[in-house]
Amino acid sequence: MSDRYGNFIQSPIGKKVAKNLGLPMPVALDRFESGQRLVRGSVLTGSAKGDDKRVREAVAHVLADLHAEVFVSDDAADTEALNEVGVDAKVITDEQQKFKVLVFDASNISNADELKQMYDFFHPVARRVEKSGRVIIIGRPPEDISDIDTALAQRSLEGFVKSVGKEFKRGITAQLIYVSEGDEKNLDSTLRFFTSARSAYVSGQVIRVSAGEALDVDWTQPLAGKTMLVTGASRGIGEAISRVLARDGAHVICLDVPQQQADLQRVAGEISGSTLTVDITADDAGQQIAEAAEKRGGLDAIIHNAGVTRDKTLANMDEKKWDMVININLASIAKLNRYLIEHKALNDDARVVCVSSISGIAGNLGQTNYATSKAGVIGLVHATAKQFQDTNRGMTINAVAPGFIETQMTEAIPFAIREAGRRMNSMSQGGLPIDVAETIAWLASPASGGLNGNIVRVCGQSLLGA
Ligand SMILES: NC(=O)c1ccc[n+]([C@@H]2O[C@H](COP(=O)([O-])OP(=O)(O)OC[C@H]3O[C@@H](n4cnc5c(N)ncnc54)[C@H](O)[C@@H]3O)[C@@H](O)[C@H]2O)c1
Repeated sequence: MSDRYGNFIQSPIGKKVAKNLGLPMPVALDRFESGQRLVRGSVLTGSAKGDDKRVREAVAHVLADLHAEVFVSDDAADTEALNEVGVDAKVITDEQQKFKVLVFDASNISNADELKQMYDFFHPVARRVEKSGRVIIIGRPPEDISDIDTALAQRSLEGFVKSVGKEFKRGITAQLIYVSEGDEKNLDSTLRFFTSARSAYVSGQVIRVSAGEALDVDWTQPLAGKTMLVTGASRGIGEAISRVLARDGAHVICLDVPQQQADLQRVAGEISGSTLTVDITADDAGQQIAEAAEKRGGLDAIIHNAGVTRDKTLANMDEKKWDMVININLASIAKLNRYLIEHKALNDDARVVCVSSISGIAGNLGQTNYATSKAGVIGLVHATAKQFQDTNRGMTINAVAPGFIETQMTEAIPFAIREAGRRMNSMSQGGLPIDVAETIAWLASPASGGLNGNIVRVCGQSLLGA
């Protein structure tokens, strides 16, 4: 879909006009391409002073594998952790040195005074982060902490990260990762995702990494040998999800309604996947999916992407529009999950990823039906995550909540509202279907066993519901 203003602003004259008029200036975001190095630039890493080395060491392990140039401010503890895993970390000497990624381990911060270490680390380099750069802070989940000083300090990190996301601009993202004590080894897949261009349109997010087994993967084909089903796969976001999962090695069963058969076959054909034409609200949808899954040895992931909007203010909404949206976007997901779990169509360590929406978080004019359904998806994810934890089969469930993504769905929005939706975020632009797809591929990875019950917004840090 076309963003004419965004394209105009990339030209020399466009830049000049926007600057003079104080208009939003979206930059072209870096996006991942197969074969590329994950980090295309230098990394600066640091940690708050303290005895607990576990996060620092986990970060060093990931950096060792990324083969990037790594710098430290001047802390001997950071250098030691990096040297131990064979990373030849340099101390910054050049005041002009620029960085693609800043990673700070804040897990040892235990009171308000110690927050100053965040200022000390980030202030000197705040103007030296490259376009599409990454800021990542790692802390401990405040809800697990009983000491008040420590809990308040760890909770403060959220305000810092969200402000950095709004301040740094130029496609730079900022995230906070809370990792539970003892689960630091599960940080791997999450750090790889957030340091890379795969997370182009994800910013201002708080991710919780906890217990669960992060399985070993070949990072060039992390989904190799897996069978994954995507609903609503014939176009838009579902098509992009199918393509990315296949790119990462999965066999994808592409599902859509019979009316979409031609497009569905085209997508499945191009990625060597298979097709399943069924309406997910049909009584036998669960059975049909289970049968298709069984032929391929069960499902390693299901991506509940199919969804519809039928916008009307509540006063003008007929019953049909309410029923249809709730049935497709919410009730069918609950029903399908129940069926697939009961009939053992989901393998051990299976990943369930749902597609919610920021409309379900913030609410939206004309969308009482849609926002109800998408908020319900969040409730479903949280409750199912607890169930999965108790059943101990390694299964996880998470959701993405897209903001404004350039698709047929958003193309149908009236111009002025569409333009506002597109610009009201830290990136000053809409996201692309691939941005949602990359986020889903990370959540669906066998290596993401430590992620369960997360709702990750793919919204360029939209102002709505933030
Ligand atoms: N586009 C956005 O900006 C945006 C923002 C937030 C959330 N989302 C969500 O992302 C998902 C994909 O959106 P999109 O923009 O690609 O929409 P889209 O309309 O382009 O695609 C939706 C697909 O779902 C299929 N589908 C609809 N009802 C179905 C049913 N009963 N059974 C099987 N398949 C069915 C459609 O045929 C279509 O192929 C939806 O859940 C949507 O709510 C989109």
